[in-house]
Amino acid sequence: MPSRKPLIAGNWKMHKTGTEAALAARQLTALTADAGDDVEVMIAPTFTALSQVKAELAGSTIELGAQNLHWEEKGAFTGEIAADMLIDAGCTYVIIGHSERRQFFGETDQTVNKRTRAAVNAGLRPVLCIGESEVERDAGQTFSVLDKQLQNGLESFVLQDLQRLVIAYEPVWAIGTGKTATSEQAQQVHAHLRKQLASLWDDEFAQQLRILYGGSVKPSNVAELMAMPDVDGALVGGASLDPETFSQLVHYKK
Ligand code: 13P
Repeated sequence: MPSRKPLIAGNWKMHKTGTEAALAARQLTALTADAGDDVEVMIAPTFTALSQVKAELAGSTIELGAQNLHWEEKGAFTGEIAADMLIDAGCTYVIIGHSERRQFFGETDQTVNKRTRAAVNAGLRPVLCIGESEVERDAGQTFSVLDKQLQNGLESFVLQDLQRLVIAYEPVWAIGTGKTATSEQAQQVHAHLRKQLASLWDDEFAQQLRILYGGSVKPSNVAELMAMPDVDGALVGGASLDPETFSQLVHYKK
């Protein structure tokens, strides 16, 4: 069996100033110091908090992630941020194609593809988010929607490009709603995605790749989700904001 190290990732979205984020990172570092190395932890604060958070993470194994990046290296792109700026701030991960960006900021599979390319070229680890809406699920389109997001988002990528990739399955209807996909629903989708990835690239790659679940993950459901064979971690919004609660997710085995 390939070993896929579980990844518990916190997406802090547009919450916390730099000062607040630094305090939360300090608390989280202390609370997760005993988590051991069979689980990886990542937090993704807002851009303005990255450097302050990075300073707090010194000496800890918690990885730093950003919530987006632009595909160009530099230039006249007001309000955007480039890969090397994220790396300079201490990031190793970057979340790409979150449904909130798709829904509110015009993100498409094509821009997701370009951002992922930029992340790969820079040596960042992209966390590529895909997910179906409630209407699409009710219409029985879950797999076709996800397949399209996956295929378009990763079009023209070769195996060598994908070694650092992480996929996050985040059903839109489960984000911030309190409605979690059941562990069976998550498992069914993750197994399907792994099969797709194997057919698009190869089985060995698909078996190594981590697929996270996101959408109302909390201490009461994390263990059940993580017990599923194809769920390799969680991308957590609301429950990642409080260090004590997020630490419980990191300690999901306890
Ligand atoms: P919630 O955990 O708040 O549902 O958010 C999930 C998410 O969007 C993580 O990226």
